Amino acid sequence: MKIAVILHSETGTTRKTIYYIAEKLEMKEISIDVFEVKSKSDYRRPLHLNPKLIYHTLKGKNVEIEIEPCMPRLEEYDLLILASPIWIGRITPPMRTFIRKLKGKGMKTICITTSRINREYSKVLRRIAEEEGGLNVIYDENLVNGAVSEELIERLLKLSGEINGGKV
Ligand SMILES: Cc1cc2nc3c(=O)[nH]c(=O)nc-3n(C[C@H](O)[C@H](O)[C@H](O)COP(=O)(O)O)c2cc1C
Repeated sequence: MKIAVILHSETGTTRKTIYYIAEKLEMKEISIDVFEVKSKSDYRRPLHLNPKLIYHTLKGKNVEIEIEPCMPRLEEYDLLILASPIWIGRITPPMRTFIRKLKGKGMKTICITTSRINREYSKVLRRIAEEEGGLNVIYDENLVNGAVSEELIERLLKLSGEINGGKV
């Protein structure tokens, strides 16, 4: 079972969350590779007051991105996990740009968002993954302040097992 995680993280919460989840899944013999989407031009702080960030986010603009360590070869993976912070109720421009580049791949995908307040923000990522990335989203969840529940880990293990025909 091989999972590719593609995350964007500007202030570290999403990255920390994903590495925690990856550690838990790897304990069950699931192989996980993490890729990071980064904006080529950094958003200056304070982020909340950055007019470029606000404009790009509200207008759903594409931005120049790079993937570290490299663009994943998705055909090598059984499952994709997308993870994005929420900005002004939306996913971030680097993540949205990345998803648009994926159009038509149809991969099984799990969408995770991180936010400060408890709303169903992961539905926003799900919709964009489905409509703009052509992905097959099988589960989505929003995590508040990066808190990961045991239920989420159990759910991810169950879904991974199902994809892998019962053997994780
Ligand atoms: C510009 C900006 C806008 C944000 N808008 C929201 C929001 O609409 N709702 C929310 O719950 N959190 C919002 N947040 C908080 C982030 O979604 C949250 O802290 C997230 O976990 C940050 O992820 P990161 O550390 O991986 O970048 C916002 C943060 C920033 C910087």
